[in-house]
Amino acid sequence: MSAALPAVVDPYRAIDREPDPRRFAKILEARGKQPGQAQLRRGFLSLVGIRSGMRVLDVGCGTGVVTRDVAARVGTRGAAVGVDPSRALLAVARRQRRAEGPGDGQTFRHGDGLALPFPRASFDIALAVTVLLHVPAGDGLLQEMTRVTRPGGRVAVLDQDFGTFVLDVPDRALTRRIVDGHAERFYAEPWSGRTLVRRLRLAGLRRVSSRAFVVVDRVYDDYVRSILERRVELATRWRIVTAAEGRRWLRSAETAASQGDFFMSLNYYGAVGVRA
Ligand SMILES: C[S@@+](CC[C@H](N)C(=O)[O-])C[C@H]1O[C@@H](n2cnc3c(N)ncnc32)[C@H](O)[C@@H]1O
Repeated sequence: MSAALPAVVDPYRAIDREPDPRRFAKILEARGKQPGQAQLRRGFLSLVGIRSGMRVLDVGCGTGVVTRDVAARVGTRGAAVGVDPSRALLAVARRQRRAEGPGDGQTFRHGDGLALPFPRASFDIALAVTVLLHVPAGDGLLQEMTRVTRPGGRVAVLDQDFGTFVLDVPDRALTRRIVDGHAERFYAEPWSGRTLVRRLRLAGLRRVSSRAFVVVDRVYDDYVRSILERRVELATRWRIVTAAEGRRWLRSAETAASQGDFFMSLNYYGAVGVRA
């Protein structure tokens, strides 16, 4: 193995610097449409306790998958504001909003979660869904979310925990090398999910509660295939596995799928705390 591994930076840190940002817009929209993901959002937004008429900020809103669900909950008397540093993703979010027609309180704003473009106490709730794990120095993002939330309001986060990624394929050692090798090199905090309660408390939030969500994928559709292919592509590039090992791993997942035995799952953790 050579010491000089090609650098790969998590594209979600700066989508607009990617050669094809639209690819990520498509991935986010495809993920949002998965039934397990829709159920996950319902569970998380219920934990957060969004009510009609509230002003809610969705930090790292991407193409607006979560913002749309928030808008439906706050209704026309409330506001669902999405903020994201990617202009390409925001363009997709705005296009979707226009396609749905006027009438709900969705708006989108360009901005970095580490320096949110809002005065203090602007929102009843600030939330971030699968954002924190991508952000180096993510505690700064929690501090900013706390700043823009009114006293008595809530700050809520939902993240994956890539220490819980499971896949039913025969070669366990190879699976560990690919899955753990990818997670360690790719995300700012691959085990983000389990850190959320502690980090919300560190940000000064009170009465922090949490919930675990297990998302299971048993259909080997384009979205799931892209998740596995991307891991193999990067694990090969990082020389964690050989190209032949990567192909063998993908084939074993495809074989399971062809027999109706595909099983993949990942835990997500949600946490919510009250602003002092
Ligand atoms: C995996 S996507 C999640 C998008 C959306 N929350 C969803 O669930 O569909 C991560 C998002 O975090 C955004 N992001 C990355 N760094 C950020 C930062 N410093 N502040 C705010 N958002 C950030 C990315 O642009 C991207 O839209």
